[in-house]
Amino acid sequence: MAISEAVREEMRQLAALYPQSRSALLPMLHLVQSEEGDVTIDGINACADVLGITSAEVTAVSTFYTMYKRQKVGQHHIGVCINTLCGLLGGDAVYAALAERLGTTHDSPSEDSNFWLERIECQAACTHAPVMTVDWEFMDDMTPASAVDVIDRLARGEVVQSTRGPAIRDFAATGRTLAFPNDGLADEGVSVDEKMLAGLRIAKERGMSAPPIPASAAADTTEG
Ligand code: FES
Repeated sequence: MAISEAVREEMRQLAALYPQSRSALLPMLHLVQSEEGDVTIDGINACADVLGITSAEVTAVSTFYTMYKRQKVGQHHIGVCINTLCGLLGGDAVYAALAERLGTTHDSPSEDSNFWLERIECQAACTHAPVMTVDWEFMDDMTPASAVDVIDRLARGEVVQSTRGPAIRDFAATGRTLAFPNDGLADEGVSVDEKMLAGLRIAKERGMSAPPIPASAAADTTEG
């Protein structure tokens, strides 16, 4: 699908946000995915035109990062963390249940093309392992049964509330947020809970603190 003039104008707005316009390429690719469902040839060419770089350069970036897809993702992207903590606490079983429910495997669309399943790396949410994401919103403390239930509810068109953040929208809406982050949803839902603050609370109770940063390291952090 050809990229519309309205989307090209949004690309130009993104490019104008950065001292070096090519820095806008990552959000521009999210915008392309939001509009097209994946990173299409037309989308790549539009990014290249707006930024004054080659299509080969845009392709190189879009094929390097796993968040960019070259096949239609469908309505919802489903990520299942299979890194150490999530894997040990049931992430592998969650992934297996979802693969069976969706009739698919890693980094591939479901049988009905409405979902995309992907094994993902640590989301820095290990406190609530095993963790799953739906359109990159957190679903914490999953079990195989609760993960399949999320899919069933989404398939029925029900509203599904992420466990930390807003209600699930869809992959296209999340792509637009990744391009233009100020979506007005930053304060939606729970952001932090007692389980996540437990370590901090215990450290305070015991008077624990991180060791001071050596002067040489502190100097390094201020020079860059
Ligand atoms: S290992 Fe899964 S969120 Fe960290």
